[in-house]
Amino acid sequence: MEPQKIILVAMTEDRVIGREGRIPWHIPEELRLFRDLTIGHSVLMGRRTFESIGRPLPERRNIVLSHTLEPTPGIIICASLQKGLAEGAAYGRKIFIIGGRQIYQEALPIADFMRISWIAQKYDGDVYFPEFSARQWEVIREHDYPGFRHLYYRRRGIGSREQE
Ligand SMILES: NC(=O)c1ccc[n+]([C@@H]2O[C@H](COP(=O)([O-])OP(=O)(O)OC[C@H]3O[C@@H](n4cnc5c(N)ncnc54)[C@H](OP(=O)(O)O)[C@@H]3O)[C@@H](O)[C@H]2O)c1
Repeated sequence: MEPQKIILVAMTEDRVIGREGRIPWHIPEELRLFRDLTIGHSVLMGRRTFESIGRPLPERRNIVLSHTLEPTPGIIICASLQKGLAEGAAYGRKIFIIGGRQIYQEALPIADFMRISWIAQKYDGDVYFPEFSARQWEVIREHDYPGFRHLYYRRRGIGSREQE
């Protein structure tokens, strides 16, 4: 079976995801959730997001999309989304698409699920999650955390391939 492709993002109501190359908030509970969800799986990201994290994420297959990065220990560099997804599929676990905007934009039409942490507070930003049609997604789970609400969406029409 094809691995699940899951967009994972934290954003404000205004869809702010970043500012000056970083995430504008620090919410430890959100970072913990990110870690718990992604450990043992593939994380697929853009070069700028990789540089902003600053190191490969441990205990995960790190796949970085780039046309400019030199070979770097701990990451697999891919020159297209398709190649990145193939690397994730070869690993045989879920593929978490973890941003930034460019990668979300390209992955939105092909993702099976989205996990969005909606940050309660407003923040200024210079990078936004792309607009998406809420009608194409159904919420299958939601949970309130201090400072954010996490919603788990499944693309309508893909059946019930939900698995934990
Ligand atoms: N709130 C969140 O959940 C969250 C998550 C992730 C990131 N962010 C924020 O988002 C911002 C970064 O987003 P961004 O859109 O500027 O950058 P990005 O998507 O992380 O990275 C863009 C780079 O990825 C490479 N790339 C993109 N598409 C590609 C493709 N199809 N094939 C090969 N390479 C490709 C290119 O690298 P080259 O130039 O090397 O070719 C491009 O310059 C930061 O502020 C970050 O903190 C927020």
